[in-house]
Amino acid sequence: MSTKAAAMAAYLAVITAAIGVTSAVSYTNHTVGGPPPSGWYFNSTSSISSTNYSVWAATQTFNLGDYLIFNTNTNQTVVQTYNSNTYNNCTSDDSSDNDTLVFNSGATKFDQPLTISVPLTKVGPNYFFSDAEDGVQCQHGMRFDIQVGQGLGLPPSLNQPPPPLYTPPPMAEPPPAFQGESMYNGVERLADGIFGVAVIWACLIVLGLSFVIFNG
Ligand SMILES: *[C@@H]1O[C@H](CO)[C@@H](O)[C@H](O)[C@H]1NC(C)=O
Ligand SMILES: *[C@@H]1O[C@H](CO)[C@@H](O)[C@H](O)[C@H]1NC(C)=O
Ligand SMILES: *[C@@H]1O[C@H](CO)[C@@H](O)[C@H](O)[C@H]1NC(C)=O
Ligand SMILES: *[C@@H]1O[C@H](CO)[C@@H](O)[C@H](O)[C@H]1NC(C)=O
Ligand SMILES: *[C@@H]1O[C@H](CO)[C@@H](O)[C@H](O)[C@H]1NC(C)=O
Ligand SMILES: *[C@@H]1O[C@H](CO)[C@@H](O)[C@H](O)[C@H]1NC(C)=O
Repeated sequence: MSTKAAAMAAYLAVITAAIGVTSAVSYTNHTVGGPPPSGWYFNSTSSISSTNYSVWAATQTFNLGDYLIFNTNTNQTVVQTYNSNTYNNCTSDDSSDNDTLVFNSGATKFDQPLTISVPLTKVGPNYFFSDAEDGVQCQHGMRFDIQVGQGLGLPPSLNQPPPPLYTPPPMAEPPPAFQGESMYNGVERLADGIFGVAVIWACLIVLGLSFVIFNG
């Protein structure tokens, strides 16, 4: 093998390895508490969560673009917050809209099965709890916190910018059609001007020629 061919082979090997490494890392869906029947459940009679969620979370690696899948029912809620006070207080009451999301606050009936998918969109500490039963569930184990890493970064599907704010159309601006027409008129006037100058020159030339002819 020539040096050139060897270099090419080495180059291809590096590229192949790089592709292999890249495709080995991808986004992960984490089923909270582990596979069914674990889920996200609280037993109100015994006041015990169905799983120790902190222990479960410690077994996982979380990155941007991953989802947490909560297999649950309407007896529990899912609150995601970036605010440690909100988390430690076990209530979303005083939280601000920009750091806390409540995923199933609209339920009106108990015991309705529910699957909630929560995307991880912010690097750093993310806190999760159930704020049902005035914080009792949260105080008795329905809570955990995780650290979200950069990983592959957000996929395009989760990286949509918010729609632009509505801005009223400007009032005094003339419509574009009118502008186009006035520009065309301007060109026309310029053409008229050139035509006019040409006519004057033509007249002067004819006048000059006739002067020469009549005097010659
Ligand atoms: C992960 O969960 C999201 C949201 O439910 C879903 O759109 C996606 O298809 C799931 N991905 C996998 C690999 O299951
Ligand atoms: C809740 O706990 C009580 C008391 O330990 C037990 O009898 C009951 O079966 C539990 N309920 C569920 C749904 O696990
Ligand atoms: C859900 O909550 C209702 C009302 O508190 C209760 O009757 C029911 O047993 C709960 N279900 C479970 C599975 O804990
Ligand atoms: C939450 O905790 C903070 C700090 O401990 C406190 O100042 C705040 O009043 C608490 N909010 C609620 C709703 O309990
Ligand atoms: C959330 O809003 C509050 C005021 O409403 C502001 O002080 C704070 O910086 C905001 N936080 C983020 C992460 O945007
Ligand atoms: C979960 O397990 C950890 C470690 O064993 C323990 O410190 C913690 O109190 C447990 N949480 C609950 C709600 O039982």
